Amino acid sequence: MEKPEFLAYVVIFLLALLFYILRREKREPKHRAKLPPGSLGWPYIGETLQLYSQDPNVFFAAKQKRYGEIFKTHILGCPCVMLASPEAARFVLVTQAHLFKPTYPKSKERLMGPSALFFHQGDYHNRLRKLVQGSLSPEAIRNLVADIEALAVSALDSWAGGCVINTFHEMKKFSFEVGILAIFGRLEAHYREELKKNYCIVDRGYNSFPTNIPGTPYKKALSARKRLSKILSELIGERKEKRLADKDLLGSLLNSKDEKGETLTNDQIADNIIGVLFAAQDTTASVMTWILKYLHDDPKLLEAVKAEQKAINKSNEEGNRPLTWSQTRNMPVTHKVILESLRMASIISFTFREAVADVEFKGYLIPKGWKVMPLFRNIHHDPKFFPDPQKFDPSRFEVAPKPNTFVPFGNGVHACPGNELAKLEMLIMTHHLVTKFRWEVVGFQSGIQYGPFPVPVNGLPARLWKQSTT
Ligand code: HEM
Repeated sequence: MEKPEFLAYVVIFLLALLFYILRREKREPKHRAKLPPGSLGWPYIGETLQLYSQDPNVFFAAKQKRYGEIFKTHILGCPCVMLASPEAARFVLVTQAHLFKPTYPKSKERLMGPSALFFHQGDYHNRLRKLVQGSLSPEAIRNLVADIEALAVSALDSWAGGCVINTFHEMKKFSFEVGILAIFGRLEAHYREELKKNYCIVDRGYNSFPTNIPGTPYKKALSARKRLSKILSELIGERKEKRLADKDLLGSLLNSKDEKGETLTNDQIADNIIGVLFAAQDTTASVMTWILKYLHDDPKLLEAVKAEQKAINKSNEEGNRPLTWSQTRNMPVTHKVILESLRMASIISFTFREAVADVEFKGYLIPKGWKVMPLFRNIHHDPKFFPDPQKFDPSRFEVAPKPNTFVPFGNGVHACPGNELAKLEMLIMTHHLVTKFRWEVVGFQSGIQYGPFPVPVNGLPARLWKQSTT
């Protein structure tokens, strides 16, 4: 073959090859996507040790600094993609939520109950969510103001007198009582006590090592969970007999029928009740603990909150008349303190989902089966959206945050249905705290503890005193 002829063949061959590659790429764009940057660490253990040997927020922040807003890692035996931008979190939780299913360790699912709405997608989740959302909507919870107020006053009175309290533990008791109120309305004392006693054992076992060995916290928690089901079954039986159309969560769950006329089973009802109690307690209690700390650390801010709440107290004849729903909707200074506490503490630092198919986001591949973690805390602490993010500054909420940058209650189909109730109890608690009490944080330790939500070290030991109203 002559040389020019040979060259022509080579050029034709190369052009054909190029054409083939381009067509294939066009047909199968997914193959172009590459995994996000980052490190998968050691075989099996991945980067779990790095994550747990330091403040998890420092781990995530350092990764973001090094790799950007989307990066991969490997923790707790799972390859993960972390997402630290508002668009990425929205992509996973809102616009493409069907491609990412909720995922929890089986050991946690066993304790909470497999029919709790967190673990589900689709029709069953929609049905349960509507019921839970309805019973926690502003229209429903506005009727709870007086009862929540009574619980707040009684809790605060029990703390006063100068003894050191563990603020977080005490706030947990309060948020538990509010949860019970939202679920059952006014519940007989013996049921309340039995639920509290057994729920505490479940709570203690929730973050312990899952094993069936008798005597371990996890095994005790499983037994307590069985007793809870029994108590709830009795309660459900009693309610069914009374045939009341109660508006509380138990009433809504009992009265619900699907399109085939089927009611929920006792187990489905019990799992969702335990699930709501679980979602309601530590979350709200940690934020309230942070509020106490932030107000304590900033006397000028505390004065501003006091001025707002004292004016309301005065208009209620020095507290002789109860707080009203509309007063709780008009506490702008206190409300901004709550929002800033939610941002600053970001007690739910991130959430987990699992990709149900290969998904491409911004040219990166999220492989099927990988965990996906939208990092709420990184978004809340990004100076692009919240300048000087380490500064506690409620005035930043005078202007609404940019869309999807402030998501303390999550976003999309699984966003928190209890957010209005959580804010309401925080407002009521703060009203009574600042108008009638003074408090002092005990000890000089600063720092954060994870249990698993972040709280000030040792649960913020504090002393409270009732102030004279004259
Ligand atoms: C300050 C307090 C609270 C915070 C920061 C908070 C935060 C959250 C977040 C971020 C989610 C979404 C998790 C995800 O997408 O994976 C969520 C879900 C949920 N929260 Fe809350 N929550 C709080 C209080 C409450 C309260 C008081 C209740 C009920 C009385 C509640 C009930 C729920 C439920 C049932 C879900 C699951 C919703 C679903 O899967 O559809 N939460 N919460």
